[in-house]
Amino acid sequence: MDFMFLNLDEFIIYGEILSRFLLMIPGPSIVNYETLLDMAKPTLSHVSAEFDQIHRETLEMLKKVFGTSGSVILIPGSGTAGIELGVRSSLKPGEKAVVLKTGFFGDYLAEAARRIGVKVDVIESPLGKGFGEENVKELLSRGEYDAVLLQHVETSVAVYNPVDKIAKVAKKYGVKVIVDGIASIGGMEMKMDEWGVDVCITGSQKSLATPPGLAIVAYRSGFIPLTDNETLYFNVSKLLSEMESTRNYYITPAVNMVYALYSSLNRIMKEGLEARYKRHEVFAKAVQEGLEALGLKLVAEEPFRANTVTAAYLPNGIEWVKLYGEMHARGVEIAGGLGALRGKIFRIGHMGEVTAHEIIATLATLERSLMKLGYRIEPGSAIKVAQEVLFIHGF
Ligand SMILES: Cc1ncc(COP(=O)(O)O)c(C=O)c1O
Repeated sequence: MDFMFLNLDEFIIYGEILSRFLLMIPGPSIVNYETLLDMAKPTLSHVSAEFDQIHRETLEMLKKVFGTSGSVILIPGSGTAGIELGVRSSLKPGEKAVVLKTGFFGDYLAEAARRIGVKVDVIESPLGKGFGEENVKELLSRGEYDAVLLQHVETSVAVYNPVDKIAKVAKKYGVKVIVDGIASIGGMEMKMDEWGVDVCITGSQKSLATPPGLAIVAYRSGFIPLTDNETLYFNVSKLLSEMESTRNYYITPAVNMVYALYSSLNRIMKEGLEARYKRHEVFAKAVQEGLEALGLKLVAEEPFRANTVTAAYLPNGIEWVKLYGEMHARGVEIAGGLGALRGKIFRIGHMGEVTAHEIIATLATLERSLMKLGYRIEPGSAIKVAQEVLFIHGF
């Protein structure tokens, strides 16, 4: 069956097709059936004791993932809603912030801060590189900035920033640290309290392996969110009260989405955070080395390569739309470039629920798709390398 012409009903009717179609984009990521089924449970009253218990346990598990004993806000919305809430509740008009931009999503942080009257400087890293301690030390030692904002993983270029080191420097200069962890949380380690990350934002649809629809903002222990920029929806005081108990109704929680997140977090806890981060590290290495074995150039350079997504330049003469079409026709969905990199790169997400055989299937499909488009490779060269990486690490 040609996947390109399936409509949503067919996906639902032929459940087995859905399970064979690989969603290998950098979010939304594959959602486990168990989680999808949990999501289909009857909708409870959002102010019932039963739902409050699920909500409470969900927040407790999220705190473990963020590495904080502070507080977490969970609201209906995409990751950008989390950015808006996180920025509004940590910065005030007249403050000066620096955004460490490693790609497309850096502008989201800058825009969110500007919209509340924060003076924003954007410092851009060379393409494919993240920021090191030294860059940050130099920037913050001037004493100009109240806050530093950055992506933990910049999805558009698959670049990782060493937030642990950057936050340590920022703390030395008394600068607030606001991190977009939308593409990292659940797949790469975050220790907000230990590292000194004041605010960290994520969404449900990436490494937390839950469908899109929830925005999550965490505040480190001891950080008091600011109420200066509250709006009707992004009202941190009222939302925090609702997080204490959903009986303190302010906005209606996305009840079934919370079931899904609860389900997925239980899976995460069962796997164990360390094991999960290690798995992401190994899978990233398998994909990255596999792509390099095909002669492809990765966008991110070491040591700035993310463990949740990989981006590579399209080889000369290979058009993105054609590569996408060949992959899609073979049942694997990958992503293209964003902004200025549209048509120049492709991206593979390897986060959340993804398994070793899905990594191999994706690379194998990429090999055949590239061959179909006339790119000369030795069939099996990517999967050979990836197999070795996976095998060495016990997969
Ligand atoms: C790092 C990063 N920040 C922000 C966003 C925006 O999130 P959303 O599309 O969920 O609003 C994304 C989405 O891909 C992202 O990867």
